[in-house]
Amino acid sequence: MKAIPLLLMGCGGVGRQLLRHIASCRSLHAKQGIHLRVVGIADSRSLVVPSNVSTGELSDELLSEVCRLKSDSGFSLSDLPGLGESRAYLGAESTSKMMEIAALLGKSTGLVVVDCSASSETVNILTQVVDLGCCIVLANKKPLTSSLESYDKLMSFPRRIRHESTVGAGLPVIVSLNRVISSGDPVNHITGSLSGTLGYVMSGIEDGKPLSEVVKAAKSLGYTEPDPRDDLSGMDVARKALILARLLGRRITMDSIEVESLYPPEMGPDVMSVEEFLSKGIVLLDKKIQERAASASTFAMVLRYVCVIDQNKCKVGIREVPKSSPLGRLRGSDNLVEIYTRCYNTEPLVIQGAGAGNDTTAAGVLADILDVQDLIP
Ligand SMILES: NC(=O)c1ccc[n+]([C@@H]2O[C@H](COP(=O)([O-])OP(=O)(O)OC[C@H]3O[C@@H](n4cnc5c(N)ncnc54)[C@H](OP(=O)(O)O)[C@@H]3O)[C@@H](O)[C@H]2O)c1
Ligand SMILES: *[C@@H]1O[C@H](CO)[C@@H](O)[C@H](O)[C@H]1NC(C)=O
Repeated sequence: MKAIPLLLMGCGGVGRQLLRHIASCRSLHAKQGIHLRVVGIADSRSLVVPSNVSTGELSDELLSEVCRLKSDSGFSLSDLPGLGESRAYLGAESTSKMMEIAALLGKSTGLVVVDCSASSETVNILTQVVDLGCCIVLANKKPLTSSLESYDKLMSFPRRIRHESTVGAGLPVIVSLNRVISSGDPVNHITGSLSGTLGYVMSGIEDGKPLSEVVKAAKSLGYTEPDPRDDLSGMDVARKALILARLLGRRITMDSIEVESLYPPEMGPDVMSVEEFLSKGIVLLDKKIQERAASASTFAMVLRYVCVIDQNKCKVGIREVPKSSPLGRLRGSDNLVEIYTRCYNTEPLVIQGAGAGNDTTAAGVLADILDVQDLIP
């Protein structure tokens, strides 16, 4: 049996689902001759490790206890009762312990460092562990969307990094694009609807519903962030667009992406509360977008909130697309990516499905971990 040591950063919705998947896939993995050995779990403040990271592991009982206790937001891993053979580290000590583990295991047994946090700080750890021989798996987009210098560092051993869940959650967007790129088939452009929330909103507008109503409905269904403006700003889509653009070789940063926000600056979070925005602000935006949808419709077009990436531009915003195109036929909260290449010229390569959710995201992360197993000695 081959052991794959892994260290998880972040145990929120996605990280905890990953721990559950790992425990429930034990017999499936055993049939493939593989055992995932969890040698560390970190949250924003602390790190839990087994007493001996070279041979030991955090037991499945402990993983399940972590999942149970971390469901209560505010619970810190360092307060985990009944640690048994494991140990907890706090604050700066937890960072130095992670580096110590990476140095110890990276080149000897191999180590997969998994980032399921939503933090912009993990990039500092990740850029260091690549040089220690570790593999990296990310659900977190921020490490790949900061400076070009960090990006180059993370990509310095392309075989050792996987980040499928950063775009379209568990959907095989990155792997499909990488296959197209490595086959030498030139990519002409990519157009994608990469926000479940904005997909749902644009599909409601197509049905003639006012923007304000659709956003409120999406919020009550739990499709939006607590402040829906976090979705409506388009910034999350812009991060995904940047990841795709950089895969295509574009040397750009976040500030060179043109992003259309669905609300104006005078309705921003610094100016009004979420409640004010939903009760008074957003209704003022209904008319204009309804008119845009109506005018598009007379040309057999529909509005979609998409990213458009080619060799010259990387834009995120509302765009008219033909009703009969894959994006035009899209309904509800699915993500959809159209990739146009020399081979997929008039009819694009299309990847579609649920592009969010803890379960599919964690499944994408798990598949990435198994995918790097050949690099583990
Ligand atoms: N949920 C989805 O559908 C989805 C889809 C695709 C991608 N993603 C990405 O997956 C990531 C995780 O999402 P989520 O919904 O699980 O987020 P979440 O519930 O907010 O959880 C974030 C976790 O990261 C921990 N954390 C914060 N800073 C950290 C640090 N410096 N080092 C280690 N851990 C740290 C937090 O610790 P505390 O518990 O101490 O606060 C928390 O446990 C995000 O980057 C998200 O964008 C999510
Ligand atoms: C993901 O997990 C978080 C934290 O447990 C939870 O609040 C959220 O509702 C979950 N999201 C989905 C789509 O299941």
